[in-house]
Amino acid sequence: MKIDGTSYRSVWVDEQDGWTVRILDQTKLPWSVDILRLSDVAAAAHAIRSMQVRGAPLIGAVAAYGLCLALRVDASTAAMERDAAMLAATRPTAINLRWALERMLARLRPQAASARAEAAYREAAAIADEDVAMCAAIGRHGVGLIAERAAGGRRVNVLTHCNAGWLATVDWGTALAPIYMAHDQGIDVHVWVDETRPRNQGALLTAFELGSHGVKHTVIADNAGGHLMQHGMVDLVIVGTDRVTRSGDVANKIGTYLKALAAHDNAVPFWVGLPSSTIDWTVDNGVKEIPIEERAASEVTTVTGRGMDGAVSTLRVTPASSNAANPAFDVTPARLVTGLITERGRCAASAAGLRGLFADLGRDAAEP
Ligand code: MRU
Repeated sequence: MKIDGTSYRSVWVDEQDGWTVRILDQTKLPWSVDILRLSDVAAAAHAIRSMQVRGAPLIGAVAAYGLCLALRVDASTAAMERDAAMLAATRPTAINLRWALERMLARLRPQAASARAEAAYREAAAIADEDVAMCAAIGRHGVGLIAERAAGGRRVNVLTHCNAGWLATVDWGTALAPIYMAHDQGIDVHVWVDETRPRNQGALLTAFELGSHGVKHTVIADNAGGHLMQHGMVDLVIVGTDRVTRSGDVANKIGTYLKALAAHDNAVPFWVGLPSSTIDWTVDNGVKEIPIEERAASEVTTVTGRGMDGAVSTLRVTPASSNAANPAFDVTPARLVTGLITERGRCAASAAGLRGLFADLGRDAAEP
């Protein structure tokens, strides 16, 4: 996708600079477009942990490239397993991180150490390219949900939570891919963007992305969605996800569950966009089994923004003595999800729905 007319992916390799890895520093957006150079595995791990890169598919791709950087230093089996484990431990909820690293290890373990770095770059590039293709397919399979509500040139209002756009993937995005395609087809689509406290991925990143692409949007406080739904101002909700269980439960950014409850109460369709790399075939009950990342309390007690003088700064918004808790994700049970939009088409958020599209995947996972 483009920023100021220049096409970007959210991660790429600079072959002219010793095969180092480049990312857009998402902690700096939308105030400045800073490109970071990752030259070793520690920098890649730091980028994921500190959310310079974030979003489930993107952290999987960056972890894969992080392993490439590690193998250039030490390609022994012991070092490779150690570095992969270190990368996997950077963030616990998004399954794409583990998926990408397991895929890399499955490809690299049988190789001689001398061949591993080159093979790793090929596999990481395949992961990144496939993510782009999967997200574009999600867009194609999801755009009809918007088009069918646009009869007679009517405006379609979509609500989304967090950032599940191209910045959260390698390109296109998951939840936002159908929106970009609807916009590109001339459909009058407008997006309600949940600000997504505490880190404000909606207000900072989704609004930036949509604005850069010319998509009409309005940022709303996280608690406004239910009210808008009660008044017929939301036609459908589309969100992304960090992990979907084999039974269709959906882990996503904290607050997603409340939007699903409000959508259910108001008969607003609630759709989830995901590539198959986000399905955890080993997990059945999302509420009980998906690990929820607990992040620093300081993300809740402070906000970061740009002052009227142009300087970016962080302000405390709570009394100095108040404690804060910061669970970063929640789980929406499958019964509240209208359906899943995947690279192979749309399906019910259920074991049967997922098996219908992905009979070839997850065969080794234990069934209930
Ligand atoms: O904590 P983040 O910003 O990494 O969380 C991201 C989300 O929750 C996204 O909605 C999810 O990863 C879907 S990304 C296509």
